[in-house]
Amino acid sequence: MKVLILPDQQTAITRAADIVADTVTKQPDAVLGLATGGTMVPLYSELAQRHREAGLSFAQTTSFNLDEYIGLSPDHPCSYHHFMQETFFDHVDIDPSRTHLPKGDAPDPRIASDAYEALIAKAGGIDLQLLGIGQNGHIGFNEPTASLGSRTRVKTLTHSTRQANQRYFASFDETPKYAITTGVATILESRMCLLIATGEAKAKAVADMIEGPLTAVCPASALQLHARATIVLDEAAAGALALRDYYQTVHPEGRDSAFD
Ligand code: GLP
Repeated sequence: MKVLILPDQQTAITRAADIVADTVTKQPDAVLGLATGGTMVPLYSELAQRHREAGLSFAQTTSFNLDEYIGLSPDHPCSYHHFMQETFFDHVDIDPSRTHLPKGDAPDPRIASDAYEALIAKAGGIDLQLLGIGQNGHIGFNEPTASLGSRTRVKTLTHSTRQANQRYFASFDETPKYAITTGVATILESRMCLLIATGEAKAKAVADMIEGPLTAVCPASALQLHARATIVLDEAAAGALALRDYYQTVHPEGRDSAFD
């Protein structure tokens, strides 16, 4: 794992945006795996700004989001479809016909899950997978004990994830119980993974992911198996790392090492 520790949230987001911009510039038709969540909001805003001011183009990219709540239509204000539209798609030149999210309102979410996995494969797989991390170590909606060999499927959300996401809904009871998520194995097949975590609330999950055992109890720890996983952190999210000094020696202030 390449662990980049930046002084604060803003510099962490800028660093992550540099990596996305570099991928899209070198490979304009890249297949991007996109993520939702509060961590991603400033990243999408930064990428939109680079589109407006520096001509960063997403016109030829294809995108696949990680997950979607079951039971919400794309125009529901709390759906991830809506989140992506509002925070990113509306602000860049991505072709709407090449953006994809799981269909949370499909009559049979199991069929929709299989179809989504097949669509990713048909597109040639994901070049760059963006990821956040839940406080319980989830990636996408792969909750603790999710199979490390899992593919896109229906997952039941944990109580703690529903509590964390309740802020977007009118009440806890209205917070969906189920989601379609790409699997841990789907994520691991991406050619590169870029996980971003900011803030003290993520420090324990980040330490478990990077330095804990490889275990389904912390699905993000599966990234230890990925040959090209970059983790971008701010100081607060890096706070519980035992080998923090080492990462900072290899990548001072999150810069590439001499051999990257
Ligand atoms: C949700 C998403 C995850 C995301 C996580 C963290 O559960 N399914 O993909 O990583 O939230 O969100 P936040 O960035 O708001 O902490």
